[in-house]
Order: sequence, then C-alpha cells, then structure tokens
Amino acid sequence: MAESIYGKHEDEMHEVMEYLMERIRDGSKIIGEKTGIEVIEHLKCRIKSEESMREKCRRMGLPESEESALHVLHDAIGLRVVCSFLDDVYAIRDFIASCEEIDIVNEKDYIRNVKPSGYRSYHMIIMVRGYYAEIQIRTISMDTWAALEHHIRYKKNIKGNASLIFEELKECADELASTDVRMQIIKNMIMEEENI
Ligand code: GTP
Ligand code: MG
Repeated sequence: MAESIYGKHEDEMHEVMEYLMERIRDGSKIIGEKTGIEVIEHLKCRIKSEESMREKCRRMGLPESEESALHVLHDAIGLRVVCSFLDDVYAIRDFIASCEEIDIVNEKDYIRNVKPSGYRSYHMIIMVRGYYAEIQIRTISMDTWAALEHHIRYKKNIKGNASLIFEELKECADELASTDVRMQIIKNMIMEEENI
C-alpha cells in the first residue's frame, strides 16, 4: 500500500483531535452550568480521508504531499460543533479562544456575513501542537440546512432551473435563521422569568 499522505503523523493527529473534543466538551459543561440548558446538540470530528485530501490537493493545484496536507491546507482535522442556541455558538467560540494551548489562525463569521448561498456557520482555523484544525460552529437549524443543501447541491453541477433553486435554498436558509433568532428570544424570556 502507498504511504499515507499524512506520513507518520496520523496518531498525533488523532490525539490532537481527541484533545480538541475534550476541551469543547469541558467548555459546554462550563457554559451550560448556569442555565442547565444543553449547549451542544452534537459534536463530530473527522480526519479528512486520504482520498478527499488527495482530491482537494489536485483541485487546488497542489502536490499530493504531506506538506500540502498538513501545512498548506488547514482542514485535515475537522470538528463540527452543533449548538442549541445562537448565543451558544459565540460562547463556544469564546471558550475555544480562551484555551491557552489553542492558537487562532483565522476566523470567518458566516453568521453575520452570510454566504451568498445562504450558508451560515462560525468557522475557526486553529493551531494546536503544530497541527491545524478547522472548527465549524453552528446551530441545529444551520446544520440542518447545510446538510440538506450539501445533499442536493454542494459541488454538483446544477443547470436547468439553477437560479430558482438557489433562490429557494437561500429563502429556506433565511427562514431558518429568523427562527433561530426567535428561539433565542424565547430562551432569554424563560431565563429572565427564572432569574437565571
Ligand atoms: P473549502 O476549500 O471547501 O474548504 O473552502 P474554503 O477554504 O474557502 O473555506 P470555507 O470557509 O468557504 O468553507 C469551508 C467548509 O465550509 C466547506 O468545506 C464546507 O464544509 C462548509 N461550507 C462552506 N460553504 C458552504 C455552502 O454553501 N454549503 C454547505 N453545505 N457547506 C458549506
Ligand atoms: Mg474545507
């Protein structure tokens, strides 16, 4: 079998990924302590498969090498944090930023700066122990939209009714986003009633 594009780094990459999962679980406990309301709906992680990483290198015009996979591209390690409420997204972001061992390389707030597709999510590229990782933080609604949109559109060639399809998808994303805001307001009202 040909050598992995990650060379001898796979074990360390798994350790880094587990470390990040642990930190985020700790963060959600701390954030949720005050209200007793679950902060994280679900938490997933993955090391980009050999095949996807090689495909991405080719797509980006990069050599299929360890250097490209670990140092030029930043998403070999990926985590997705799906939060219950909008404010949890930013609380998790702040918690990650406060971790001493984690350095933030880049952040993109696609919640305040929505992508033209309607995609919303908070993206962080971080570095820990010499490894880059991409962390996507979003609400359940944002995750639902991204998953469905990914199934039907992402990286596919839609011709025919393209503009109608994009408009419809964008409208669904905006409707879900307004529901997120309303749910946040309801949560705030409940917390106020209970003096939390
Ligand atoms: P990639 O080369 O795809 O990683 O894009 P990038 O380096 O420009 O980063 P960007 O922040 O735009 O996107 C990173 C990741 O966010 C993607 O790999 C997807 O997982 C997700 N993403 C970004 N845009 C969309 C979108 O329109 N729809 C969906 N479903 N996911 C998206
Ligand atoms: Mg990516």
